[in-house]
Amino acid sequence: MNQLNDLDCGTPARVSEKSVTIEIDGIAVSVAAGTSVMRAAVEAGVNVPKLCATDSLEPFGSCRLCLVEIEGRRGYPASCTTPCELGMKVRTQTPKLADLRKGMMELYISDHPLDCLTCPTNGNCELQDMAGVVGLREVRYGYEGKNHTKLAKDESNPYFSYDASKCIVCNRCVRACEETQGTFALTISGRGFESRVSAGQDQSFMESECVSCGACVDACPTATLTEKTVIMMGQAEHSKVTTCAYCGVGCSFKAEMKGNEVVRMVPNKNGHANHGHACVKGRFAWGYATHQDRMLKPMIRKAITDPWQEVSWDEAVNYAASEFRRIQAKFGKDSIGGITSSRCTNEETYLVQKLVRAAFGNNNVDTCARVCHSPTGYGLKQTLGESAGTQTFDSVMKADVIMIIGANPASAHPVFASQMKRRLRQGAKLIVIDPRTTEMVKSPHIAADYHLKLMPGTNVAVITALAHVVMSEGLFDAAFIAERCEEQSFQDWQKFVLQPENSPEAVAALTGVSAEDIRGAARLFAGGNNGAIYYGLGVTEHSQGSTMVMGIANLAMATGNVGREGVGVNPLRGQNNVQGACDMGSFPHELPGYRHISDTTVRTEFEQAWQCTLDPEPGLRIPNMFDAALDGTFMGLYCEGEDIVQSDPNTQHVTAALAAMECIVVQDLFLNETAKYAHVFLPGSSFLEKDGTFTNAERRISRVRKVMPAKAGKSDWEVTVALANALGYPMAYQHPSEIMDEIAALTPTFRGVSYKKIDELGSIQWPCNDAAPEGTPTMHIGEFLRGKGRFINTQFFATAEKVTRKFPLILTTGRILSQYNVGAQTRRTDNVMWHGEDRLEVHPHDAEERGIKQDDWVGIESRAGQTVLRATITERVQPGVVYTTFHFPESGANVITTNNSDWATNCPEYKVTAVQVMPVTQPSAWQKTYNRFSDEQIQLAKGLVSSDEKDLALLGK
Ligand code: SF4
Ligand code: SF4
Ligand code: SF4
Ligand code: FES
Repeated sequence: MNQLNDLDCGTPARVSEKSVTIEIDGIAVSVAAGTSVMRAAVEAGVNVPKLCATDSLEPFGSCRLCLVEIEGRRGYPASCTTPCELGMKVRTQTPKLADLRKGMMELYISDHPLDCLTCPTNGNCELQDMAGVVGLREVRYGYEGKNHTKLAKDESNPYFSYDASKCIVCNRCVRACEETQGTFALTISGRGFESRVSAGQDQSFMESECVSCGACVDACPTATLTEKTVIMMGQAEHSKVTTCAYCGVGCSFKAEMKGNEVVRMVPNKNGHANHGHACVKGRFAWGYATHQDRMLKPMIRKAITDPWQEVSWDEAVNYAASEFRRIQAKFGKDSIGGITSSRCTNEETYLVQKLVRAAFGNNNVDTCARVCHSPTGYGLKQTLGESAGTQTFDSVMKADVIMIIGANPASAHPVFASQMKRRLRQGAKLIVIDPRTTEMVKSPHIAADYHLKLMPGTNVAVITALAHVVMSEGLFDAAFIAERCEEQSFQDWQKFVLQPENSPEAVAALTGVSAEDIRGAARLFAGGNNGAIYYGLGVTEHSQGSTMVMGIANLAMATGNVGREGVGVNPLRGQNNVQGACDMGSFPHELPGYRHISDTTVRTEFEQAWQCTLDPEPGLRIPNMFDAALDGTFMGLYCEGEDIVQSDPNTQHVTAALAAMECIVVQDLFLNETAKYAHVFLPGSSFLEKDGTFTNAERRISRVRKVMPAKAGKSDWEVTVALANALGYPMAYQHPSEIMDEIAALTPTFRGVSYKKIDELGSIQWPCNDAAPEGTPTMHIGEFLRGKGRFINTQFFATAEKVTRKFPLILTTGRILSQYNVGAQTRRTDNVMWHGEDRLEVHPHDAEERGIKQDDWVGIESRAGQTVLRATITERVQPGVVYTTFHFPESGANVITTNNSDWATNCPEYKVTAVQVMPVTQPSAWQKTYNRFSDEQIQLAKGLVSSDEKDLALLGK
């Protein structure tokens, strides 16, 4: 029951320099040594019947349907478990084989409900297919004896059903959970006739360790494990390949459709980032796209205390344009700006920054990458010469030592985590640097060799201490440094890291990590052949985020771990298009391709192409916009796809800034927290309703394809085009492919990118140009993008956010598997069954000291604000540290976080906030105000005045 139209070769491909030639049914075929007879047969154009084999899993040899005859061998070996040997002569079709297969199928069918016509997988069932293939015409054994046809279903998972009566115990689901996903949630319990698939310790799927990735559902050849949407809607009738709109892994999916409705999302086995795997978000949590909360009509209002009025697209867009021009006339050209989201496509982001620069006439454009990976852009550009990760995801399969810093891929990049875990199970070593004991530290068959459980805010001290060990113990790669790096910068850096205050012993007390562990980790990393570093927001979202990124690049260069497969510096981008949002020039100082706005040559090129004059001065960053709003100089904002009220730090500061503005235009799927402060609402389109591209964490550009019409009538890029035209700046694109053609023409690293080429290759990793016409999987081979790699000293400075007697604990924030970012999408799906509220993780010692028990309501207070959450007592966090997620607006995690930010990029210091935590009995003052305001805003939207009844005076203002 795999993907429509995908050939299943039965067993995985093997890679070998040696090839073996065999003969199958008289056809000669040469395959890589180690290839199974079954797969060789497929390559020869012969399909051997099979049930327990599928090419995403190692063969198991249990169903005995794939038996073949091999000349000179006795018996009937299973073709799936038999490797090809030179000169083998195989027969796949003989009367004896036909008999054996029929007998086998008869046994299966005699213990299987005969309800094919009403079965949800009728027409897409391998058992049914095989019964047809072997020519089964009668079943001699009745149902009188013992059978499994009355077994109960497990419907506990919201997305798929487990109908044990249909299970043929082929073990595919168990292997998928182990090999593909790495969760090990399933076993076959019992023996012989009693054998059954069991989740956990004979638990239901929901009670077990299952993380609902769906790999078992995909692998199941029968209707036993089936998506509930398929049960409800029936089989799809067409499909289109598109890209997941959640995290930076960028999984490729086939959207299987019935008319304009999605039946299911099936991970694309030809997807270069995911190879047929997915997680609970991408595979199952797409229901938000048709959720009743979607706002499908443009709306306007004069003040945020007014009810919304539904208007036509033209009226809304013209009103927004006239307001922006009015504000500019009153407060000056620089008084308005735009914010794009990493959830937008490349084409949308490109258009928004073009609109701001060309139509607004300033550079006040920023993106949510400001609050996540802007230090990556800065730090990697300074050291390696390009603001992007260096590898493909597949590169991890060649890593010998994996270092994960400040990231929890099992929650935030689950499909890549599965791949990483596969490599770890093969024997790669693991170093985790994280204040929490994440799933990557310890999970089935995975255990970190070193877990440096540092205090939040001390990353830079740890990375410099690691470098100290590398240099003082002579573990560096002298040849690499001499050939590839700047001599002077290396000398300076070496001198710096060797200073005694940077030794592990000197920083142990400060970081909370023993000198022994730092030394051990450094030795392991430097001495382990291919060392690959993966990092996340636990690196960037600090006051020294950029310094830490540079420290990581220093360590990689010093150990010679850049410029080939299996190594590298790999930022794990949080959202689907963080990389793309940065590439597309949505920062106030950079045009597409990371070129500074002050560069006259570059600016002139854009001025000629865009037929406008560009301001050479960088514009406002997001935090500067808020400050300027409070100063009365920034009065209008176009915000596409980003919920700044919930996602940006110090919520009360953000909302005060928004309340001070005169016109906020929000373009989004839902009336999000920011829209509650808006004056114009422009309905957004989900990823299913538009064409475009996303660029994942590996710089991989993949197509997003429209599978259904835009529910509100316009795709997002069309709305920006309409706004530009209403502002008097003409844009005339007919399709996003034309926008990409313009990006390619103006951006050297994208020069060779086109929709046609993406369609041909499946996806492309930039740089893609004449020098690399099919893209660049590994960067910096032979030479860094900037020529020589540059070492930069990473002096540690403690954050200004100090723990005191009043605020004795450190709050650090992060994500969870089932929810995504501000939760606007995932909260509107059954994913809430796994995580229905943000919780505060508290160490048992801290809890006991404060009299906090499991599930108690606790007040958490920082210098910025106060909120109330329920407590989870856990040793995942260390004493002195508390942790929460930020997926639910009412929990207000960002009411607590402060205005502290990275020195170079202003990326907020989400990961370190000094707090106090106490048991409480009622919501915080902020929560009470929020609840009241939020309810009022929902009422103002519900009490919509339709366009017929609208107050025309508003438009005539
Ligand atoms: S859904 Fe994923 S985690 Fe759950 S049992 Fe299936 S393969 Fe394992
Ligand atoms: S649930 Fe499906 S995949 Fe698993 S053993 Fe049963 S038939 Fe095979
Ligand atoms: S959320 Fe990320 S890992 Fe999950 S399916 Fe989407 S892209 Fe893949
Ligand atoms: S397919 Fe080979 S034994 Fe099942």
